[in-house]
Amino acid sequence: MSEQQVFDVPAKVAERALINAAKYEQLYRQSVEDNVGFWREQGRRIDWIKPYTQVKDVDYTGEVRIRWYYDGTLNVAANCIDRHLPKRAGQTAIIWEGDDPSISKHITYQELSDHVGRFGNILRSKGVKKGDRVTIYMPMIPEAAYAMLACARIGAVHSIVFGGFSPDSLAGRIVDCDSRFIITADEGLRGGKKVPLKANVDAALKQCPGVTDVLVVRHTGGAVHMEAGRDHWLHEEAAKVGVDCKPEEMNAEDPLFILYTSGSTGKPKGVLHTTGGYLVYASFTHQYVFDYHEGDIYWCTADVGWVTGHSYIVYGPLANGATTLMFEGVPNYPDASRFWQVCDKHKVNIFYTAPTAIRALMREGEAPVQKCKLDSLRLLGSVGEPINPEAWLWYHRVVGRHRCPIVDTWWQTETGGILISPLPGATKLKPGSATRPLPGVMPEIVDANGKVLDGPCEGNLCIKDSWPGQMRTVYGDHKRFADTYFSTYPGKYFTGDGCRRDEDGYYWITGRVDDVINVSGHRMGTAEVESALVAHPKVAEAAVVGYPHDIKGQGIYAYVTLKSGEQPTEELRKELVQWVRKEIGPIASPDLIQWAPGLPKTRSGKIMRRILRKIAENEFGNLGDTSTLADPNVVNDLVDNRMNK
Ligand code: WTA
Repeated sequence: MSEQQVFDVPAKVAERALINAAKYEQLYRQSVEDNVGFWREQGRRIDWIKPYTQVKDVDYTGEVRIRWYYDGTLNVAANCIDRHLPKRAGQTAIIWEGDDPSISKHITYQELSDHVGRFGNILRSKGVKKGDRVTIYMPMIPEAAYAMLACARIGAVHSIVFGGFSPDSLAGRIVDCDSRFIITADEGLRGGKKVPLKANVDAALKQCPGVTDVLVVRHTGGAVHMEAGRDHWLHEEAAKVGVDCKPEEMNAEDPLFILYTSGSTGKPKGVLHTTGGYLVYASFTHQYVFDYHEGDIYWCTADVGWVTGHSYIVYGPLANGATTLMFEGVPNYPDASRFWQVCDKHKVNIFYTAPTAIRALMREGEAPVQKCKLDSLRLLGSVGEPINPEAWLWYHRVVGRHRCPIVDTWWQTETGGILISPLPGATKLKPGSATRPLPGVMPEIVDANGKVLDGPCEGNLCIKDSWPGQMRTVYGDHKRFADTYFSTYPGKYFTGDGCRRDEDGYYWITGRVDDVINVSGHRMGTAEVESALVAHPKVAEAAVVGYPHDIKGQGIYAYVTLKSGEQPTEELRKELVQWVRKEIGPIASPDLIQWAPGLPKTRSGKIMRRILRKIAENEFGNLGDTSTLADPNVVNDLVDNRMNK
């Protein structure tokens, strides 16, 4: 039923929108017919030190080469700050709302400029130079944004590691990109609980001999160990430097940041984004998808540790001179009304969050929402995972009061910015569909053999041609980049997502088709969780799959075979959950662990995940061909013991 429901563009929204239906069609056509011309024009939305003459140089075959605006030079921080100062020095750039509801502050563009300048000077004084990698492991405080922009200002490449990752995960990422400089805080604060960030850094650095300096923000004031010579307080260093910090002139294709993300195999890979194309794309998508108008208060609830925080808390909004809200806390602290209270408190106009948060809040009923006015809200957004029509309709009715369009934005760490999404003034909405591609984006749906499908169809989602925000390489492993994204369907970028296209040309993302699971909008490689499990001394073998979970979208289901002689006990089950939390971080906690005396394997020893997925989904009738298994009885045993069957 709901899939057939169509929501028209409200007249009021269409009237003031930057792009209406006719304009979208025209821009889209232009972007396909004259792709270079389209992006040549869009590139002018940011300031260049040396303007580009070359727009695009892309080859998706062979070694794969992607370059945009590649003879231009610019500085990202100058674009996000300096160029706004003549007009907006006194305008709020960042509204910061603390975990504690009584604490918030406004940071103007002038103040942002001063903070970032000092921060940049500190980095330079410690010897950080253009091209050096700096790892940032921070809570959601303004200093996280200052740190990012300071790196961009001096040409250093930041690698942010989400504060929920364990010391081991942090260490792996520091070593992989060879950072010698770390920026962190004493502690983070989420839902009234402290997160021991500095202590985690101390633990991680036991494995990172290359690190020479750690800059520490005093945030909670909690006691931390400070290693003499290595660790420095930000406030002490800031007192020694001035605010003037000359921006480094960067080539459009110089790296801006690395962000680690999970894939279907191996350890997380360092997705590398560069300077010019990324900023053009973040600015373009932020302005049009959120129909951003001068003076709007915009809030994206993501963490800066994820790509959504990079593109849609910091770079996109600030490039556009917007007011961006940064929230330290969680949706249900002190109570389930928090998001809506923050919307009222700061008169938020545009609100962008994840389906998992909506589903969790939906469970609390309508009262926590109804007690807030929410009359400032004009537009809602969703990101990170497919939004089920039920959650979409609730969001639209209860939060948006039937008045606010929802932009369901599909994109990935790799894409740098939104690729498929409604434009609020142009696109009719269907609950659960990311709708249509943005101008300049050319999706294709292919079958298992790579044949491009026409019209209404279902298959695997590829993108035919590049856009400026696309990742350029896997840090330190360009071959892995080409193999992962361009070899499955040669000549196309393969997203790893399944997708359906309906009779109106609307796209419906069906979820990952590879061994990546999406837990509460966070990507997790099944291989990573498996290798954490088998690192436990009592575990012989493990296989991990995703299964449908009411709140998280997907949960983590682990089949574990113990070493001979080990007994499966409730205690051991708990121990294994704790073990994975410690190895990777809380987001990787298995939701269900099933003891498996044996795993279904082919005669060549390959685990048949398809079968494990079906069992985890409780779909026993549909296990498919099991005749190629080395021991078909294994399956009966697993079905008999399916958890909570
Ligand atoms: C999924 C997050 C359906 C998808 C920005 C993708 C979505 C992965 C949506 C990327 C959406 C993201 N509808 N699925 N609107 N947005 N996804 O790299 O499977 O953390 O491949 O980037 O999330 O996750 P990532």
